[in-house]
Amino acid sequence: MSRITVKTDRKRFPTAPLLYGLFFEDINRSGDSGLYPEMLRNRAFDDSVVPDDFTVDGTDIISKSGYRWIFNGGEGLRYWMNENGTEPTPIPAWYSSNASMSLDSSDTLNANRAVSLSVDFGKGGYIYNIGYAGVPAEAGKAYNFYMFAKAEKPVALKLSLTADGTTLASSDVTVCGSGFIRYDATFLPNATTRNARFEILCPDGGAVKFGFMSLMPAETFNGHGLRKDLVEKLRDMHPAFLRFPGGCIVEGASISTAMRFTNTVGPAWERPGHLNVWHYRMSDGLGFHEYMQLCEDLGIEPLYVINCGMTCQARKAIMFEGADLDDMLEEALAAIEYAVGPADSKWGSLRARMGHPAPFRLNYLEIGNENRGPEYNERYEMFRKAILERYPWLKIVSNTHVENDGLPTDIVDEHFYNRADWFARNTRLYDSYDRSGPDIFVGEFAVVSGKVTKLYTAVAEAMFMVGLERNQDIVKLASYAPLFENVHFHCWYPNMIVFDNMRSFAIPSYYVWKLFGADRGKYVVESEQESEAAYTEHKGAPSILGDIGIKFRGARWNGKPVSPTHEIIGHVAEDGDGYITTPADDSQINEMMRRFGLASKALVVLGDDEDARAGEFEVEILAEEGKEIGIGLCSARWPMQTFGTDNPEPADAWTFRSVNPLRWTIKDGVSSFTERMMRDQVKLAEPAQVSLRYGEYNTFKYVSDGRNVLFYINGDLVMRGELPNYPAIQSVALDNDDEVIIKIVNFSDNPNDVEISLDCDVESRYIANVLTGDPDMGNSLEEPERVSDKSLELNGAGKAFVYKAPAYSVNVLKLAKK
Ligand code: AHR
Repeated sequence: MSRITVKTDRKRFPTAPLLYGLFFEDINRSGDSGLYPEMLRNRAFDDSVVPDDFTVDGTDIISKSGYRWIFNGGEGLRYWMNENGTEPTPIPAWYSSNASMSLDSSDTLNANRAVSLSVDFGKGGYIYNIGYAGVPAEAGKAYNFYMFAKAEKPVALKLSLTADGTTLASSDVTVCGSGFIRYDATFLPNATTRNARFEILCPDGGAVKFGFMSLMPAETFNGHGLRKDLVEKLRDMHPAFLRFPGGCIVEGASISTAMRFTNTVGPAWERPGHLNVWHYRMSDGLGFHEYMQLCEDLGIEPLYVINCGMTCQARKAIMFEGADLDDMLEEALAAIEYAVGPADSKWGSLRARMGHPAPFRLNYLEIGNENRGPEYNERYEMFRKAILERYPWLKIVSNTHVENDGLPTDIVDEHFYNRADWFARNTRLYDSYDRSGPDIFVGEFAVVSGKVTKLYTAVAEAMFMVGLERNQDIVKLASYAPLFENVHFHCWYPNMIVFDNMRSFAIPSYYVWKLFGADRGKYVVESEQESEAAYTEHKGAPSILGDIGIKFRGARWNGKPVSPTHEIIGHVAEDGDGYITTPADDSQINEMMRRFGLASKALVVLGDDEDARAGEFEVEILAEEGKEIGIGLCSARWPMQTFGTDNPEPADAWTFRSVNPLRWTIKDGVSSFTERMMRDQVKLAEPAQVSLRYGEYNTFKYVSDGRNVLFYINGDLVMRGELPNYPAIQSVALDNDDEVIIKIVNFSDNPNDVEISLDCDVESRYIANVLTGDPDMGNSLEEPERVSDKSLELNGAGKAFVYKAPAYSVNVLKLAKK
């Protein structure tokens, strides 16, 4: 049972018009092959060309600052290339039969192209492209093709879409001329398949040089070149802004891989494209103009992110100086002029030539992405001043709270990737923010561990989003990240919308955004809520967690002796009548453990009671001065951290990533009870001063009833703590003149009768738009809407009524005022 009291006559503040938006980054091949529906992979033949500022080491490349990442011959992540059973090829996605292919860097279509593809066809020889895990072909649809090619002697070619040896559509062309000439064709497939290939057959043989080619569906959103079903999904979220083009890709990991506006405008075949930090080359066909056009088509505000003369600080940053830094500032100014400059200005005239003489709207500009520190502040201020001098109306978004360093900022962009319970426990995060400080943009957030892509995590995010709505006097913008994933190539997990070359589906989180974006109301009104606590999923056996060399004996769980069962960090050896912890070997230690200061610790699970929440644990530990003693509570395989990984670990692994106990630590006479949440250490009890008998075995005991925990040393109660919890229900109330909107989220496994009291009369009949179901359920390409929102018409609303919020549910109640 919970209670929500709404006072519509006490308006707190107007709702923020831009609160819910989109963040698009070309990650997971979400640009080419996705939103930008190019069907030919490696259309400019340069995927395998290593940028000049890298060296190659096996399947990796290394930047000048020493940052190493998977390049894999231009295929990117190593498992992509085996899609559809294809063999590796030196020119990614291209294969040949009775024809030899080579890359030519001396004779290219234009100065921006790194290579052309030279082909010597034997009689009946052919080359083919397998697209992004298959070329899609749909009967009844048209596909537009063009290429630039040349041949000293006329060469007849048959271009076709084929599948399993059958031709679905074809077009004949004769290439002739010593300069590159453009050839166009339209394909109308007679059958549907997701796994066709694009073939160029040469019946009589001959030599042809291809400069560039492209194959795209004729039908796109508003005819502006972007994939229709994907843009429709975005539109249905009712977004108010689009942040682009990233993300880490803005920063890059070297000068050549940093995002540059000038490379992303003009005719597609003149855009050089570039390698991005997500392990693949992007064509930049989805460039500045296309983003701005998309914003215009959706009627939303663009929020453009610029590189501010530094590369990604998580990837061995390079700080640009001198001409390199000035170049980046010029890039930013050029982009703004392209957007809003007159049609006779240098960049405005290119916009006009690209078909948009009138200026676009541009009001928001973010300087850098996830940059920080003195180097950032210096560049931020340089860029901010120069930009505002010319474009004073722009609202400037900073990556950090630069106002604390005395620098002006309109909006600060904050990012949160964390566990589901973090979001449920941080709904009050913005309640305490300074109301006179800058506005807040929660530019990237998502649950990234545990049951990602399932209803469970969507509901957790909704809890947090209710907190954003309650604080929209300062939280003015928010967006989920990342937005898209090609199902055959993910370098980040999870992502909101997943697609293959024809189909798409959205994870349950999408439906929260859709529901919350649809009903914004005009004012946030006063409301109070009371609800019982819901406890996090923590459970499992006890563990020893402390410095290496801890000696312990006599461990008992609920009165029964327990011994070491899993060595998570370090090892354990028998020592007299007990055990001693010993150091980890190199194979056990990873970067994350070092970062969290855990590489010199030991974590050893005792017993096998993985389902325990309540219970009593007792152990004797030898106290030694200067040594940290620790006991882990709830050491089961939860939660899994999948964040940013290209290959999530199996769910049943007993590893540092999946076993993350709550920590009772005794160090330097202080007892504390904490929890590690991603990068943060969260306090679960007031720390207490304790005394130990050094050089002797001391008895440590904790008693948990599944909610509260008592901690004893040598029989004395030294500290009380509580297992992590949060209010099961979160809500926000909005006024829409003739309607009251109440958003209620129930993040618990109990249905909840919510008693609602209003200060105004409402019609009995009301609408409840609801997302609920099995918390472990998600969607897929085969079942795209298994978990999606439903609209219910209910009766019984009034000044006081009960709404039954299902377990794990997101509810938007729409109550018509009388
Ligand atoms: O959304 C994925 C990445 O997360 C973004 O590129 C970056 O800004 C953040 O670290």
